[in-house]
Amino acid sequence: MPDSFLKRNNRRQRKLMSEQRIQIARPSFLGNEKKYVLDALESGWISSIGPYIDRFEREFASYHGMKHAIATHNGTIALHLALSASGISTGHEVIVPDLTFIATSNSVRYCNAIPILTDVDPDDWNINPGCIREAISPVTKAIIPVHLYGNPARMNEIMKIAGEHKLMVIEDCAEATGALLQGRKVGTFGHISCFSFFGNKIMTTGEGGMCLTNDDELAERMRILRDHGMNRKKKYWYDNLGFNYRMTNMQAAVGLAQLEQLDSLLASRDAILRQYKEKLSSCEGIVFQETHGNRNVNWLVTVRLKGMGFETRDVVISELSRNNIDSRPVFYPIHFMSFYKDSAFMRGENLNSIAIAGEGISLPTYVGLEEEKIDYIAACLIKAYEKYSL
Ligand SMILES: Cc1ncc(COP(=O)(O)O)c(C=O)c1O
Repeated sequence: MPDSFLKRNNRRQRKLMSEQRIQIARPSFLGNEKKYVLDALESGWISSIGPYIDRFEREFASYHGMKHAIATHNGTIALHLALSASGISTGHEVIVPDLTFIATSNSVRYCNAIPILTDVDPDDWNINPGCIREAISPVTKAIIPVHLYGNPARMNEIMKIAGEHKLMVIEDCAEATGALLQGRKVGTFGHISCFSFFGNKIMTTGEGGMCLTNDDELAERMRILRDHGMNRKKKYWYDNLGFNYRMTNMQAAVGLAQLEQLDSLLASRDAILRQYKEKLSSCEGIVFQETHGNRNVNWLVTVRLKGMGFETRDVVISELSRNNIDSRPVFYPIHFMSFYKDSAFMRGENLNSIAIAGEGISLPTYVGLEEEKIDYIAACLIKAYEKYSL
């Protein structure tokens, strides 16, 4: 345990830290979650029909000022649903960042289309608009920008490129519910936007996802495909090969309660980032994502340990673990995975994605994480960085 930390803290606190493991993420249920779930259970509406689904969809759309919300069972299939409804299929190319969670690019492959793994910006870690331009080919049909770790991608430039080349834009907002780009909510720029409500996300429904759109036709297609492709007027008649991608009324009950508290959940995350930044500011080699003045909602507070690489970074993760702190590596570039090792997926070397992945580490971030724990985590991280970055 770092000496500086020990000096500043009393024996009781020290004992607490060394005994309690600090998890990387935890959900926060401080509102109507239990009440609504119990109500859903008692009503008997436990599957994918029920008042909470309608309310959650309506309120989530309204929170974003969007026309349609289509709830799904998770965020991965929200992406697949959006791509399917957009007509993405065999032989089409879809531009995605190389540095993202695997679901972003896998969802493209579920459509038999080709994800083009594109490099990210070294400052904000999001897909680089210049690299998007270079990646466009005659068969490019869509772009999926990701707001990585909650930090908004450069949507204005991306929408301009998409407009020039008549491409669909599907925003992957899985990690960024409530993030603001120049004061405007992410998820309101693209033709469709997709969210995740997995247990570690900004708000959760256990597993869950959502698609937003202002386009009536896309919304109708997503609703039909979500429900096996069933004709909306003629029950048990199918015009398309669809899926069962529906959310349950119980998930939506949790989601509605979480949405009611979203602004305060976001405010807590803002405070956590401020504290991490303050406590790590003495170490120049620890660098945060550049936000360009936007609101990064800090799904996970994630930093670069400048000058480190995959091996040394992993040593830091082990050292933190010995100090009872859970942390995790930044996503590996998708092109590192065996089933993405094909030149068809690549246009360049994606050196920024590799550098960030090698240096990046995500730190515990959840509503209720006490300042004394952030103090402790920061002290342990600085000590490990100074020890292993030489
Ligand atoms: C960027 C990104 N896209 C998509 C997903 C998929 O969401 P889910 O886990 O709900 O399927 C995630 C989830 O972690 C994610 O981080």
